[in-house]
Amino acid sequence: MKDCRGHVTVIVSQEERKTGVEYQTIKGEKVPSLGLGTWRLSGQECARAVERALALGYRHFDTAQMYANEGEVGRGIRNSGVDREEVFLVTKVRTSRFSHDDVIRSTHESLKKLRTEYVDLLLMHWPNPSVPLEETLGAMTELQEEGSVRQVGVSNFPPSMVEEATQYANIFCNQVEYHPYRAQGELLEQAKEMDYLLTAYSPVAKGRVSNDAALKEIGQAHGKTPTQVALRWLIQQEKVVAIPKAASEDHLRSNFDILDFELSDEEMERVSALRR
Ligand SMILES: NC(=O)c1ccc[n+]([C@@H]2O[C@H](COP(=O)([O-])OP(=O)(O)OC[C@H]3O[C@@H](n4cnc5c(N)ncnc54)[C@H](OP(=O)(O)O)[C@@H]3O)[C@@H](O)[C@H]2O)c1
Repeated sequence: MKDCRGHVTVIVSQEERKTGVEYQTIKGEKVPSLGLGTWRLSGQECARAVERALALGYRHFDTAQMYANEGEVGRGIRNSGVDREEVFLVTKVRTSRFSHDDVIRSTHESLKKLRTEYVDLLLMHWPNPSVPLEETLGAMTELQEEGSVRQVGVSNFPPSMVEEATQYANIFCNQVEYHPYRAQGELLEQAKEMDYLLTAYSPVAKGRVSNDAALKEIGQAHGKTPTQVALRWLIQQEKVVAIPKAASEDHLRSNFDILDFELSDEEMERVSALRR
């Protein structure tokens, strides 16, 4: 539904509005455990999804220079009327902009598009061996020092590269593909040891978990869908947050509705055993 200004209105009951979600604590900072991924969201659909998500209680958003939707993500946040300080906002520097000056310039462009003075977390999108890690992370640390970026991190980094990255910056996060069919044991151990955030991307395996028989069975015991079980399994792990992408209000709502149940140790094990 839209109001007279063309903004999205979402009817949310008090029961449903559980803002603040659950949190993971990383280096003393709280990060909302469930965020919204925005890859492949664009234009009005993107701005509306972000605005709807904020109305439902989401407070964590993931975008990237590569997604070409930072403007719409910023518009959605602005239109929602939610205070910027309440939102954990993440963007990523594209691999072609990893030289020192490009990192600085492109991040300032991102901030302009996002209509904000800072992002909560800036990530290197993928490793790029043609630019020294020291150069890229050095520039990101300068942005941190000037206040444009609160935390810095990496994405799609194997454990050995995370280790190397810590020589050049205080690494807050590694964002990687993680869902019931994809094991990430080594990174999980490292995240706990080094106290960094492991953000699970493609957390519902791009929709594939919704047909899983084992997840369905576990969900039935809790009155939840297979997708909700997969997301719950992720955020119940130490240092892990999940960022499912959803365009429809139904998906946005049901993905967020995972805060009122818990999986037992045995159920957690059963989901872990689905890895291939
Ligand atoms: N760092 C990286 O290199 C990297 C790479 C990939 C992704 N990411 C980030 O991670 C986010 C999520 O990953 P992803 O988009 O690849 O995959 P995903 O979140 O696992 O899956 C998204 C797909 O699942 C569907 N879906 C969402 N909720 C559902 C539900 N409750 N029931 C059934 N289907 C559902 C969505 O449909 P609708 O859209 O129709 O609702 C969409 O088609 C991205 O948007 C991006 O922000 C980062």
